[in-house]
Amino acid sequence: MLLEINDIHVHYGKIAALKGISVEVDEGEIVTLIGANGAGKTTTLKTVSGLRPLSSGSIRFAGADISKMPGHKRVLAGIGQSPEGRGVFPGMTVEENLLMGAYARRGDFSQELAEVYELFPRLAERKSQAGGTMSGGEQQMLAIGRALMAKPKVLLLDEPSMGLAPKLVQQIFSIIVEINRRGTTVLLVEQNASQALQIAHRAYVLETGRVVKSAPAADLLDDPQVRAAYLGGGADAQVGTDTPAGGPAADASPSVAREVSEEAPLVAAPETVEEDDTPSSS
Ligand SMILES: Nc1ncnc2c1ncn2[C@@H]1O[C@H](COP(=O)(O)OP(=O)(O)O)[C@@H](O)[C@H]1O
Ligand SMILES: [Mg+2]
Repeated sequence: MLLEINDIHVHYGKIAALKGISVEVDEGEIVTLIGANGAGKTTTLKTVSGLRPLSSGSIRFAGADISKMPGHKRVLAGIGQSPEGRGVFPGMTVEENLLMGAYARRGDFSQELAEVYELFPRLAERKSQAGGTMSGGEQQMLAIGRALMAKPKVLLLDEPSMGLAPKLVQQIFSIIVEINRRGTTVLLVEQNASQALQIAHRAYVLETGRVVKSAPAADLLDDPQVRAAYLGGGADAQVGTDTPAGGPAADASPSVAREVSEEAPLVAAPETVEEDDTPSSS
C-alpha cells in the first residue's frame, strides 16, 4: 500500500472535523473521496500533506510512518498537493510558478518543465504571463503542473474541477487520467462525483468526518443511495440516512451552473497553513 490513512481524528480548535477516517491508496490507483461540503475532504488531504496536525490515528506512506513528518519533508518523500482554490502566485509568471513546485529539490528542472509543458501545451504558450492573469482553467492546470514539478509518487488533488466550464472539466479529468497513466498515483477530492467516479478505480464517501461507504468507483456509480445523494437525484439526500433510491441521472449535474465563472481571471492567494486556535504540531 502506498498511502495508508488509519483512523485519523483531526480538530479545528474544539471542532472535530475528522472522526476516524481510514483510506488506503495503492500504487498506480486513482482513488477519489466524494462528499458534500464540510464532509472533511479538504481536511483529509491537508492532513496527508502535513498542513493539519493529527489528534490521533496515523498516516503511513511508502512503508514509513509520516504522522509527525513536517510538510516540506513529505513533499520530498513524494507527496504532491494541488490545493483547493489553486494557490497560484498571481504576480509570478507561469514558469516561475512551476519552478516554485520544485523548490524543495536542487538541480536542473528542465526535464520536469518539459514534461509539464508537454502535458499542458497551454502553459508552454503562456510561460511568461503572470499567473494571476490566467483564466480559471489555466490556473488549475498551473496548480497541477506545479505539484508535478516535485515528481510526486502520489498527487493529491482538491476539487480540480471547481468553477470550470463543462468543457474544461472534461479536459482536466482527461489530464488526470493521463498523469495516472504515466505512473503517478492520484488521490482526488471532488464534489463533481459523477466525473470523479468515472475516472477513479476506487472511491470513499465521506459524511461529517466519517467514511460511510467505500467501494470500486464503478459500483458507486450504480449505487442507488450514492446516485440519489451525489449524482443529481435530490440535493439533500445523504448516503448515511435512509434515502429513497432513484432520481434523475448524472447529466442533471450542478456543474452547468458553474460555467459563468470560467474566463474571469482568478487571483488566488498562495495556500498557507491557516491560523486558528489549534496549536500546530512540532
Ligand atoms: N479553518 C477552519 N476552522 C474551523 N473549522 C474548519 C476549518 N476548515 C474546515 N473546518 C470545518 O471542518 C469540517 C470539514 O471541512 P473540510 O475538510 O473543508 O470539508 P470539505 O472539503 O469536505 O468541504 C467542516 O465542518 C468545516 O466547517
Ligand atoms: Mg473542500
